[in-house]
Amino acid sequence: MSVHKNVKRVTTHVLQEMKDNNEKISMLTGYDFSMAKIIDGAGIDVILVGDSASNVMAGHETTLPITLDQMIYHAASVVRAVERALVVVDMPFGSYQGNSKEALVTAIRIMKESGGHAVKMEGGQEIIESISRILTAGIPVMGHLGLTPQSIYKFGTYVVRAKQEEEANRLIEDAKALEAAGCFSIVLEKIPAELAERVAKEVNIPIIGIGAGGGVDGQVLVVHDMLGINNDFNPRFLRKYHNLFEEMTNALKSYISDVRSGDFPNKEEQY
Ligand code: KIV
Repeated sequence: MSVHKNVKRVTTHVLQEMKDNNEKISMLTGYDFSMAKIIDGAGIDVILVGDSASNVMAGHETTLPITLDQMIYHAASVVRAVERALVVVDMPFGSYQGNSKEALVTAIRIMKESGGHAVKMEGGQEIIESISRILTAGIPVMGHLGLTPQSIYKFGTYVVRAKQEEEANRLIEDAKALEAAGCFSIVLEKIPAELAERVAKEVNIPIIGIGAGGGVDGQVLVVHDMLGINNDFNPRFLRKYHNLFEEMTNALKSYISDVRSGDFPNKEEQY
């Protein structure tokens, strides 16, 4: 029997049951109330309040500038809309890398002030102490390996990660360390499909991919990318399910033209 069809509220335990039952997990980003209501109503399993809000909502070039207060604002807006999905909130750059006490304070603020259900952190063995401390407080943690955008200035580019054996082996070790520490799931971003599939087989927690092929336990995309709102981001891994950029532009042009011509409002559209 299918797990996801029978749950009123998705929890970290439901995601584990889905993996154990070979059911794929669906995840999308969400940053605001109105969009989150639509995404949740459509039946998504996980909404990630990603620090990609820095790019998508605020127009920054990277995810680095977004602040903890801004992440909490986005997350609280999403939580108010959601009835079924698990809401995972990104810990922003600079809010957990310093030391484990600071990481715990950040995670507690996110949980208390946004009402989110879990946090996500980028990195492997180098942040295990912080992850363990957060888990000790009863806060579920999702890991994030491969292309980790908060380290973009270290990588220098957004190209596929872990193509070489040394980096691939380190990624596998990191995934095992995150599982051993108690993470409930891991996002793998932009790595070879074969490597991602291997990780999904070698660790027991759900592996969610973005640009990591179909051999993992679930998929995540940035909602503005898959709806085609963002017109100028076209990586190979992205499937666009709509061209909302074009549809919205046409609707907006019609409104402007109707206002200019006096066609809007008509007699039925006034009091
Ligand atoms: O911030 C984000 O949107 C993410 C996803 C790309 C996984 O971390």
